[in-house]
Amino acid sequence: MYKSLRGTRDRIGKEAEEFHLIEEKARKLFQTFAFREVRTPLIEETGLFVRSIGESTDIVEKEMFSFQDKKGRNISLRPEGTAPVVRAYLEKEIYKQESMSRFYYIGSFYRYERPQAGREREFHQVGVEVLGSSHPATDAEIIYLGYLFLRSLGIKNFKIWLGSVGCRKDRESFKEKILKILRSKENLLCKDCRRRMKVNPLRVFDCKVKECQKVVSSLPSLLDSLCEDCRLHLEEVKGFLKELAVPFQLHPSLVRGLDYYTRTTFEMEFPLLGAQKTLLAGGRYDHLVEELGGPSIPACGFAAGVERLIVAREKEGRIELPSFSRPLVYLCYVDKKFFREVFLLTQELREKGISSEMDYLGRSLKAQLRNAHRLGVKYSLIIGEEESEKGVVKVKDMEAGKEEEVKRERIEKFLRERLSHVL
Ligand code: HAM
Repeated sequence: MYKSLRGTRDRIGKEAEEFHLIEEKARKLFQTFAFREVRTPLIEETGLFVRSIGESTDIVEKEMFSFQDKKGRNISLRPEGTAPVVRAYLEKEIYKQESMSRFYYIGSFYRYERPQAGREREFHQVGVEVLGSSHPATDAEIIYLGYLFLRSLGIKNFKIWLGSVGCRKDRESFKEKILKILRSKENLLCKDCRRRMKVNPLRVFDCKVKECQKVVSSLPSLLDSLCEDCRLHLEEVKGFLKELAVPFQLHPSLVRGLDYYTRTTFEMEFPLLGAQKTLLAGGRYDHLVEELGGPSIPACGFAAGVERLIVAREKEGRIELPSFSRPLVYLCYVDKKFFREVFLLTQELREKGISSEMDYLGRSLKAQLRNAHRLGVKYSLIIGEEESEKGVVKVKDMEAGKEEEVKRERIEKFLRERLSHVL
């Protein structure tokens, strides 16, 4: 028998519904912040990711699902969403039509990592990208949006880390500064980090090896190496965040695992998740558009991992969101004679948008009601001799156990009123 691939998962019923709910929340909230949806392909030229994410990053070095197509072109499954959005923005020359663009995306991404809790090979992100603004208010606004998004999902116990990686110049001088220290501690670093030191010493900051992390904690803070403009930018972001009442903590060296960042970086983490605790992360990338062949256009954005949001919601005791995959109503016949009447009423309610289910196996009323219970419907509608004659339906409130008669022609209105909170 075939099995799903390592690091990928089937999600059925309730589990699939969680995805749906989170995506719907994202969609609604992002739209109120004037973002519009963008859908890009799952596959891109490998070069796009190498160029943008950076050759020395873990993602490019170890984690891409890459292959050659029949014509020998190098293709990769997308490991993240920012580079494809910028590619689409340039290809469609959107910068010629508007000075500022806001996009959001929802979809699956692929990284060949060692699977563990919160780390999958196929995972899902919801993300936003703003192109065309270098204003610090934009950085603050998207952090605010991320904060509101997590809160709207019932997630409260998370921390917001704010950092800055400065401009290119700041990073170059910082690299030199830490390189001296790293050289003196080279024997304490893992093989990967010793190699990374030569290509991009900043990458040592996101090494997951404990010994390397010890060395990292002894390095100076990137925040102390910022030039005046970058320092001021950070101060303004902080100021806006305070005015928006967003709680945050400064991180001394939040370099992130992708090379395209400039100035602001941030991560929102949920400590109860253990090793893979970052729910949402992003930052500013003022040179990426230019590096991918476009004009100089500043940008920033974030992405959140849906799988991790689901676990965080569970740990928070999951607030109830409207349910889609469970029927709200179960229709029962007291006797097979009334099957047809029940069948037609079921289709009528479905057509009106009220999710309904019934029995097709000719089971007893008791068995039908048991099934209604199992499905967790709110109401059971019962039709027997008396109801059929009087042109009514017996409505049973499954939680309260109460029954009442409702006229056939009023049933839709009745259900709509009672179920308004979930319809
Ligand atoms: P990232 O930090 O690589 O950033 O990923 C963002 C989020 O995606 C992570 O915080 C995590 O929740 C989730 N995630 C990443 N890898 C996995 C995985 N293997 N399994 C489960 N979840 C995962 C980016 O992707 C940037 N494009 C974010 C961004 C947008 N920056 C600017 N704009």
